[in-house]
Amino acid sequence: MTSAAFSYSDLRGWIHEAERIGKLKRVAGAHWDKEIGCISELMAERDTSALLFDEIPGYPKGFRVLSNAFIDLKTTGLVLGAAEDLSRVEMVDAWRQRLKAVTPLCSVDVGVGPVTEHVLTGPEADLLRFPAPLWHEKDAGRFLGTGCAVVTKDLDDGWVNVGTYRCRVVDHNRITVAANPGKHGTDMMRKYHAQGKPFPVAIVCGMDPLVFLSAGHPYTGSGECAYDFAGGLRGSPIEVVEGATTGLPVPASAELVIEGEIPPPPKLEMVQDGPFGEWKRSYSSGTHPVMEVKSIMHRKDPIILGVAPLKAHIPFPFSIPVMASEVWNVLEHAGIPGVTGVWFGLGLIWPVFLVISIKQSYAGQAKQAALAAASCRANTVGGMYVVVVDDDIDITNEKDVLLAVAARATIEDIQVLHGMITKAPMGPGSRRHRAAGENRQLLSNRVLIDACWPFARRDEFPVSTAFDQAYAHQVLEKWRGSLL
Ligand SMILES: Cc1cc2nc3c(=O)[nH]c(=O)nc-3n(C[C@H](O)[C@H](O)[C@H](O)COP(=O)(O)O)c2cc1C
Repeated sequence: MTSAAFSYSDLRGWIHEAERIGKLKRVAGAHWDKEIGCISELMAERDTSALLFDEIPGYPKGFRVLSNAFIDLKTTGLVLGAAEDLSRVEMVDAWRQRLKAVTPLCSVDVGVGPVTEHVLTGPEADLLRFPAPLWHEKDAGRFLGTGCAVVTKDLDDGWVNVGTYRCRVVDHNRITVAANPGKHGTDMMRKYHAQGKPFPVAIVCGMDPLVFLSAGHPYTGSGECAYDFAGGLRGSPIEVVEGATTGLPVPASAELVIEGEIPPPPKLEMVQDGPFGEWKRSYSSGTHPVMEVKSIMHRKDPIILGVAPLKAHIPFPFSIPVMASEVWNVLEHAGIPGVTGVWFGLGLIWPVFLVISIKQSYAGQAKQAALAAASCRANTVGGMYVVVVDDDIDITNEKDVLLAVAARATIEDIQVLHGMITKAPMGPGSRRHRAAGENRQLLSNRVLIDACWPFARRDEFPVSTAFDQAYAHQVLEKWRGSLL
């Protein structure tokens, strides 16, 4: 996966490819009010196809919602440009090779594009024209922005940030933008408001999955644009057009773009955007600013990319934890040898656990890996528990990982680091929300668990009871007919 291998260039192209490989189902007539969310949940428990909802009651035929898009290994592979036959850890490995090779490419302004087919302003710019789903039963409202990309510009040096922040429709022309403390969008808003200026925002709903991938994960730092990163991944620049009222660059092939401003105090309106059903299988809420909508641009028959956290969608939002690749590269860069896999998640618990497997060659190697991974930027969104296991453990299998913790770690192998930087309002223990300083940066703890056999006692390691794989396969084939 070191050279670009993308068979699509926008969301529609990706949908076409997903259908070609038999991983897309079309659903007609499901209601935006809970039904789309419920079908997405029920289907994800049974089948990993992407779902394209059309003929949504109350909306024109063609105004669609795409959900469960990337929950299959093959549809994730389509996004990443990966070979079809990789295992999950192999895909994490292949993706990290691609990340190592990426050179950002500046986006190019192409003037007009499919997204400029319809430009709505004034009362026409009405959010309720679009079939935003009520994803979970007790959500506070309809979220148009779940698999979205929020575009903003820095007031000082004009760099453009693109991040995924959830957005709830408040009414016809108001929508929340839930950038958490520490996110670039939040920092940028503060600068405008400090000067009493309204903060221009463009919310992109439905775009090239590579742009979504780049916006929703901390691959880029301050001053770096996710468009350029996505262009580098693709091997050709992301084509953009100027937003109708903000002038912010938005993807030319975007499905739907909502533009507006978040006014400064005293007009600034902060509201609870939740409850919203989260990956923790519980509802969450936050106090977030409201954007006043000025214009909407959309393609003919727009497709909203819906990436609401549903309990079966783990890892989330792709079928491999894409930031694990970045952590793996950090470990390699830090000179830690013998890493054989990195994975975020423990069964359905995501992304709190970061699991690393190593082939031990010296004492202290596991701790070294845990410390490096615990504090790197790629791990600031999750990874509150960093577990290091031997390479015989399947890191994608929670039973294997828990067995290693139970059988190979002692209390001395568990250590807690306090006051670590995090970009996610969650974490182990009651101290998870400690905020410090003016910009309320979030801090969290990290629990390091060395669940490897002690290296010094490697000669005493008990022999594994696992049958030799070739022998087990032979026995299975011999008895398959009568026993299975
Ligand atoms: C599906 C999805 C939903 C997300 N929702 C939010 C959110 O509501 N608020 C938030 O601050 N981050 C959210 N994130 C994480 C950010 O998009 C991510 O940390 C990104 O790197 C932000 O970058 P920035 O600080 O450059 O804006 C979400 C990520 C994904 C993939």
